[in-house]
Amino acid sequence: MTVATKLPPMRETDYQSRHIDLDIPALGPDVKTWYAGKNVPPLFIQPADSKLASSFAAFDAWLAEHRSQIDDAIFEYGAVMFRGFPVTSAAEFDRLMSHFPRFDEGYVGGMSPRKTVEGKVLESTRLDQNFKIILHSEMAYMKAYPARIALFSKTTAPIGGSTTLGSMDEFMARMPADLRAKLEKHQTLVVRSFAAKGASQGKDSVDHPGNIGWDSAFFTDDKAEVERLCEERGMEYRWNDDGSLTLKEIKSTFTKHPRDGTPYYRTNLHTNNSFQRAGLGDVEAAVLARQKEPIGQFLDNGEMLTEQETQTILGLYDQIELAWQWQDGDVAIADNLKVVHGRNPFEGPREVLVCLLK
Ligand SMILES: [Fe+2]
Repeated sequence: MTVATKLPPMRETDYQSRHIDLDIPALGPDVKTWYAGKNVPPLFIQPADSKLASSFAAFDAWLAEHRSQIDDAIFEYGAVMFRGFPVTSAAEFDRLMSHFPRFDEGYVGGMSPRKTVEGKVLESTRLDQNFKIILHSEMAYMKAYPARIALFSKTTAPIGGSTTLGSMDEFMARMPADLRAKLEKHQTLVVRSFAAKGASQGKDSVDHPGNIGWDSAFFTDDKAEVERLCEERGMEYRWNDDGSLTLKEIKSTFTKHPRDGTPYYRTNLHTNNSFQRAGLGDVEAAVLARQKEPIGQFLDNGEMLTEQETQTILGLYDQIELAWQWQDGDVAIADNLKVVHGRNPFEGPREVLVCLLK
């Protein structure tokens, strides 16, 4: 097995010195655009005059008018970032995102503890602020997934806390050919487990996805409704005698982009051991001890990735990771196949809101 390529990591990208102005006539004269190079998302979109910089109504109208051009830009650049526009509240973020088709299935059955803030806007995560969230495609563990994810930095953490991004075109280009050939032969078996009803009710943070109660994950405490939602999503379910819930699902390892057919790695096969690496060994052990069967992501023949394969994939995510200083009011929209996202650990207040889009 070849270990990852020797190309330099992309996090050295200096957004200030590599500020490359772009002329995108389709977006009109009211905004200016720039980026930091090929496979370096996002495309920054900023107001060119004081009207869009000072009036939310004007920005909202501009966005509605340029929706299809923005769709094109998200596809071409992987992600766009609106900076310098007057966006201050969850309600305003919800209003802006209402111009885009929503992923209405939302986080039902999801693995990240979060709650609805306003309309279709959700808090980003309640995972402990000390933990780094590595780059991932949103809901990579489910067949049904949001095509795009929008993020709004309402309150930017004073220390750390950047939402990180990475280009999956760059990831695929760097993936060793023999690893890719092996992965192309297999689908992914996802086995997940939720804790008993009420396990995470009223908690501000959860240190492991396995500690989320099934009622929190499915936004209902009605077992029959959970079963209906699982069947609708093609997930096999089993209620355990301690009140916990185990789900199984077979999904593709690579997902073809609906717009041009390019395949992207979209699975969490590499995460089986990552919690231990993140210093969560005790938490992980406690969760595993009460689970009825091994949870995680496996090849469809039941095997796990080897340690070296796991390290290679984690190394690729590490190589493509990009971070820059976010500002209050920043709104980003990322294509969920072409660009992955994560979060750096942080200190101080941080409020980042999320909206899932089609
Ligand atoms: Fe995420």
